[in-house]
Amino acid sequence: MSDHIAFVLNGRPVTATGASPAMTLLDWLRGSARLTGTKEGCAEGDCGACTVVLEDATTERGGPCAPVNACLLMLGQIHGRAVRTVEGLRGADGTPHPVQRALAEGDGTQCGYCTPGIIMSMYAFAVGGEPAQPELIHDALAGNLCRCTGYRPIVEAMARVAQLPEARIAAAATVAASMPEVPAGPVFRTAAPAGQPDGARFDVPATMDALLALRRDHPDAWLLAGGTDLGLRVSHDREVPAHVVYVGRVPELQVIAATPGRLRIGAAASYARLLPQLDGALMPFGAMVRRLGSRQIRAMGTIGGNLGTASPIGDTLPVLLALGASVHLRSAANGTRAVAIDDYFVGYRRTALRADEIIEAVEIEVPARDEIFHVDKVSKRRDQDISAVLGAYRLRIDGGIVRAARLAFGGMAATPARARQAEAALVGRPWSDATVAAAAAVMEGDFQPVDDWRGSARYRQVVAGNLLRRLHVRVTRPDVALEIDRL
Ligand SMILES: Cc1cc2nc3c(=O)[nH]c(=O)nc-3n(C[C@H](O)[C@H](O)[C@H](O)COP(=O)(O)OP(=O)(O)OC[C@H]3O[C@@H](n4cnc5c(N)ncnc54)[C@H](O)[C@@H]3O)c2cc1C
Ligand code: FES
Ligand code: FES
Repeated sequence: MSDHIAFVLNGRPVTATGASPAMTLLDWLRGSARLTGTKEGCAEGDCGACTVVLEDATTERGGPCAPVNACLLMLGQIHGRAVRTVEGLRGADGTPHPVQRALAEGDGTQCGYCTPGIIMSMYAFAVGGEPAQPELIHDALAGNLCRCTGYRPIVEAMARVAQLPEARIAAAATVAASMPEVPAGPVFRTAAPAGQPDGARFDVPATMDALLALRRDHPDAWLLAGGTDLGLRVSHDREVPAHVVYVGRVPELQVIAATPGRLRIGAAASYARLLPQLDGALMPFGAMVRRLGSRQIRAMGTIGGNLGTASPIGDTLPVLLALGASVHLRSAANGTRAVAIDDYFVGYRRTALRADEIIEAVEIEVPARDEIFHVDKVSKRRDQDISAVLGAYRLRIDGGIVRAARLAFGGMAATPARARQAEAALVGRPWSDATVAAAAAVMEGDFQPVDDWRGSARYRQVVAGNLLRRLHVRVTRPDVALEIDRL
């Protein structure tokens, strides 16, 4: 048990005594630490003005330096970790860091409000040693908005620091030397002094047993993973949780295990850690995850959180439905039970998860080489946008006949759902234009989507049918260019 949060900030150990563990890192940096370089723009993970770097995180490319949104991270989450802010970039003699020089000299800043966040994304990119390929640069900047400079000079500055040896300061070594110890007990707890209005209990169980006992005894506590959904309630809605249980330190929840034909994903493994596993037969899943939020969101967000929120537009959920995944739920009383993903969603944002259970993992059967597996995300912007419709499909064709089909969609109903009538219209029939057109037509009876700002009900119906037609073209006519960037 501890009453303070300890972490490494800009290479030096600090303790945040008396601070509420459920306040955001951004509020602590700007308020208590008086480090106002890190800005607040949207307070909901979209603009990137609050970007800082976690120096001990695993990134999508295996590097140790991940950009994250300080507006979404709760202070308790960073206990025992290492954070770098824009103030921690200049040299000992006060000279600007090479990424700062590159942006300033390249006219990549005007009003300057977005600049610290962009600098930190550039820094993570440079330290990661990525090459100056346009798609990598755009991907690394997708979580940072600039309202006045225009992106060309920013992209050019980024290209100049890519693989620049002096842009890679030895951040990791500084961290290793000064990392505070995380208490060894099974439950670490820190709370603001009694009487403080923003006092909160924040448990960080280090073992599965401790987590399950907390879940059993405190079913109303917030169960926190990456915080890219829950963090908005603190940052944007200014809610003050009375009790948070952070699941990120339980080793079993971090395990990603690939065995022949199967992949098990621990509920608290970040998308950034998961991505390198999604190659080969699961490549379409990986391509979709690269469009989930931004690098900042993928460094924090988890598949367990996507399943916990169970939004009808949660991007991984139709994919898990198409793959026929099983969700492993665990409680102190009953151990682990595997729930078929078809039985997991029981209503709008309601699931089979019981009050005393946690999501432990999800297991996927990897499609065989001769199966068709594909995912299409349709959103207004390519990056950092929520889906209007997401389609995921797994089919087995044998001798020109469809033998099995799972077609799943997000954005079409109150839950992510399969298109059962369309599936029935495919199975047992030739894999032909006529069959696919008939299946796309009956799919209109599968869903009654809603109108909202992402798309009208009619738009969604037409898109879903067209996605099935497009899948058929993709498979049968590989010569046809189907991606806008390849036309
Ligand atoms: C800017 C931005 C962009 C986004 N873009 C996308 C997008 O493109 N596609 C998309 O699908 N989502 C998107 N999201 C939403 C979010 O990133 C995902 O839903 C993510 O998977 C949530 O994971 P998390 O670990 O952050 O969950 P958290 O916020 O920590 O938790 C979410 C919910 O899951 C529950 N939970 C978490 N872990 C467990 C567990 N082990 N057992 C039981 N319950 C648990 C929590 O109690 C909570 O109810 C975006 C969010 C932001 C802020
Ligand atoms: S303030 Fe906009 S992403 Fe954090
Ligand atoms: S320089 Fe003004 S918002 Fe980017």
